[in-house]
Amino acid sequence: MTTRPDDTSPDAPAPAADPASPPRSAAPTSLAELERRAASRRGQPAYGHDALIACDRLVRVFTTDGVEVQALQGLDLLVAEGELMALVGASGSGKSTLMNILAGLDVPTAGAATVAGRDLLTMDARARLGYRREVVGFVWQQTARNLLPYLTALQNVMLPMQLRGGRRRAARTKAAEELLSMLSLHHCRDRRPHQLSGGEQQRTAIAVALANTPSVLLADEPTGELDSHTAEQVFTAFRTANEELGTTIVIVTHDQTVASEVRRTVAIRDGRTSSEVLRRTERDATTGQESLVSREYAMLDRAGRLQLPTEYTTSLGMAHRVLLELESDHIGVWPDHTADGAARGRGEGGDGDESGG
Ligand SMILES: Nc1ncnc2c1ncn2[C@@H]1O[C@H](COP(=O)(O)OP(=O)(O)OP(=O)(O)O)[C@@H](O)[C@H]1O
Ligand SMILES: [Mg+2]
Repeated sequence: MTTRPDDTSPDAPAPAADPASPPRSAAPTSLAELERRAASRRGQPAYGHDALIACDRLVRVFTTDGVEVQALQGLDLLVAEGELMALVGASGSGKSTLMNILAGLDVPTAGAATVAGRDLLTMDARARLGYRREVVGFVWQQTARNLLPYLTALQNVMLPMQLRGGRRRAARTKAAEELLSMLSLHHCRDRRPHQLSGGEQQRTAIAVALANTPSVLLADEPTGELDSHTAEQVFTAFRTANEELGTTIVIVTHDQTVASEVRRTVAIRDGRTSSEVLRRTERDATTGQESLVSREYAMLDRAGRLQLPTEYTTSLGMAHRVLLELESDHIGVWPDHTADGAARGRGEGGDGDESGG
């Protein structure tokens, strides 16, 4: 794990933490300085103004039999137009809850969420239906859930176009055939789902989801029921849609290969985005060789909260509280070496909080 600034060498020596001299506190800020900062912030654009998907402190609470489950606990997420990204996280971390909200199938309890300029909290039933038909496409894990069994692949792709209305039948047929060809499915045109392989069914499902050229394509574990070779073909179909049509795509996956083939993978932990991995190709200045470099970043939420990786905090005995020091180009985080802090770190004092990050 490399949760460090880009230009910091992994071998750079860490500054020595001296428990005898706690980090200096920042000089008191003058009122005039605070006013100047507030004024300069006033003209700034709102959070996520240029993102296609913007989730701002999203909360979703489910109540069943009087028991509350906080599936999303203030989740922040921005996705730019044209991105192809993956969402990963342990079972129960809130991935499907988020996808259902983005798909317009569920409404958040609190927070804000906009997709392609539509406010997901305030849409009425009519706007919601239009949103689901025109703005988002959805692919489920269960192949059977994506397609109607008594329609052929072509008819399945044409159905959402028909529901939306507007185009003549010949134009719809042509558009549906083009989508099938783009995803290498022309041979499946007149077959019903039970005559298709699992991978072909999921690729047809992608064609169905793309039928009305949505801005966003959402997929919840689309390769969960497939073997790795077939999963690869399905992922290629997503990539094709992203590259050929410019569709923004968010894929929830447990599949490590899928997660490692996208430029950005966001991890969700306990209903919040906790870390993200960015990958980019770098060219060696001397040899000219290209290599894929991936870096893991911790998320800094809008309140300034940072989730430290548990393996980092436990290895340094950090628990309950830490010392912070502002340097010119980074912030140092130090274990609390005061007597009660050390005791807490060993789990002997206070409320025994050992949760780490
Ligand atoms: N309709 C619901 N009613 C009550 N609780 C729910 C409902 N949907 C989800 N939950 C709860 O919310 C939490 C998040 O569930 P969610 O389905 O979003 O997880 P997930 O990350 O998709 O997990 P998985 O990887 O297993 O699919 C879980 O604790 C789950 O039990
Ligand atoms: Mg799920």
